[in-house]
Amino acid sequence: MGWGPAGQISRRAALLGGAASLAAATATGRHAVSASLRSEPGAAARLGLGDIAARNGIVLGASFAVHELDTPYGAHYAAAYLADVRSVTSELSFKMSVLRPTAGVINLDPADRLVDFAARNRLKLRAHTLVWNDDLPDWIHRLGPGEVELLLEAHTTTLMERYRGKVWAWDVVNEPIAPWDHLPGNLRKGPFLTALGEGYIARAFHLARSLDPTALLVINEAQTETDDENGRVFRTSFLALLKRLRAKGVPIDAVGLQAHLRSDRRYDFAVFKGFLDEIAALGYAIHITELDVNDSAFPADEKRRDAAVADLYRRFLTVVLAHRAVTAVTFWQLADHTSWLTYMARNESPNSRRRPRPLLLDDAFKRKPAWFAVESALKEMPPR
Ligand code: XIL
Repeated sequence: MGWGPAGQISRRAALLGGAASLAAATATGRHAVSASLRSEPGAAARLGLGDIAARNGIVLGASFAVHELDTPYGAHYAAAYLADVRSVTSELSFKMSVLRPTAGVINLDPADRLVDFAARNRLKLRAHTLVWNDDLPDWIHRLGPGEVELLLEAHTTTLMERYRGKVWAWDVVNEPIAPWDHLPGNLRKGPFLTALGEGYIARAFHLARSLDPTALLVINEAQTETDDENGRVFRTSFLALLKRLRAKGVPIDAVGLQAHLRSDRRYDFAVFKGFLDEIAALGYAIHITELDVNDSAFPADEKRRDAAVADLYRRFLTVVLAHRAVTAVTFWQLADHTSWLTYMARNESPNSRRRPRPLLLDDAFKRKPAWFAVESALKEMPPR
C-alpha cells in the first residue's frame, strides 16, 4: 500500500521497524516527526499547508478524532496532521454527548488525550463545543430549566478551568440558528434556549471570558454559504443575532463559519464575500471552522470527481483567503476515510462501491487534487 507523502514515512517506518516505532516518534513531538520526514530524500522539498498558511498569517487546521490513533493507520494519521496543520479541532471529545453520556458522569479521558496530543506536538487547539442545543444526551432533555442553567455554569466552569492556557479558541456556542424550529429570531430550540431564552448565549460568553480572559471566544454557525433561500435565511438570521449580541457588549472574539460545502448546492461566493464584509464590519475576526466538500452529486468517475471537489475548494478559498477578517481555516478531517461523510455513507449504504472523496488526502494519506488546489490558493492569497 502506498502512503503518499507518507510513502516516505512508510519507508522510514520500515527502517524503524514499523508503525509502532513511528508512533513512538510521533509521541515525542512535532520535531521528532518532522526530523524523520526531513531525513527522507525529497521530503523537505514541499512545505506543508500549515507552513504556507502561517507565512500568510492564517492558522490552518483540521478536526481530529483521538480514536483514529488506535487504528492500524493511527501513526500515519498523526503524521499527516504534523505535516499539514498548525491547529486541531476536537471533532468529538469536547461534546456533551461524549463528556457527559449519563447524569452525574464526566468522561474527560478523550479530551485529556487530545489536549496532550496538541501540547506535545505544539499544535493550537480549537475546543468544540461548550453549549449546543443539539447532539445532547437524552438525560439533559429531561432536566428542568433551573437544572439546565446549573449545568451550563458547571460544565463551562469545569472545562475551562481544567484546560485554561491549553485551548487557543473555544467554540463557546455552536449552531444557534435553526429556521426549521420556527422560533423568534430563527433560534435553534433546545434545553438552553428553553431555560434561559436567547440570554443563554450572552451567559455562556460572559462566563467563558471570566474563566479564560486570553482564549479566543467563538460563536459558530452552519449553512451560511449557499446561494439559495436556506443560505439567505441563515445569513440574515445569524447577522441579526450578531448585531443584538454586539449591541449588548457580549464578549465574542470571532465568528466561526462551518462551510460544509455540497456538490448539490448553488454557490455565488461574491454574495458570501458580502456576508463576510458585514461580519467584519461588526468588528469580529472570522474562522472557517469545518471545511469539507460533500461530493455525492459530482460524477462517479473518481478523476472527474476529484477535479470538481478541488475546483469548489479553489473557488471558495480564493474569496475567503482574500478577506482580511479571516484568520483561521479548519478542514473537517484531512483524509477521505476518516471523514464523517464516509462514516455516515458506510452506515447508510454499506454495500455501495462509491465512497465519499470530500477531503485533501485519500485513504492512503496521499495528496489529492484538492490538496494542490488548497496549496495554490494559499500561495496566491494576499499576505495579512
Ligand atoms: C459531527 C462529527 O463530524 C461526527 O463524527 C459526529 O457523529 C456528529 O458531529 N456541525 C458541527 C460538528 O458543528 O460538530 C459536526 O460534527 C458536523 C456538523
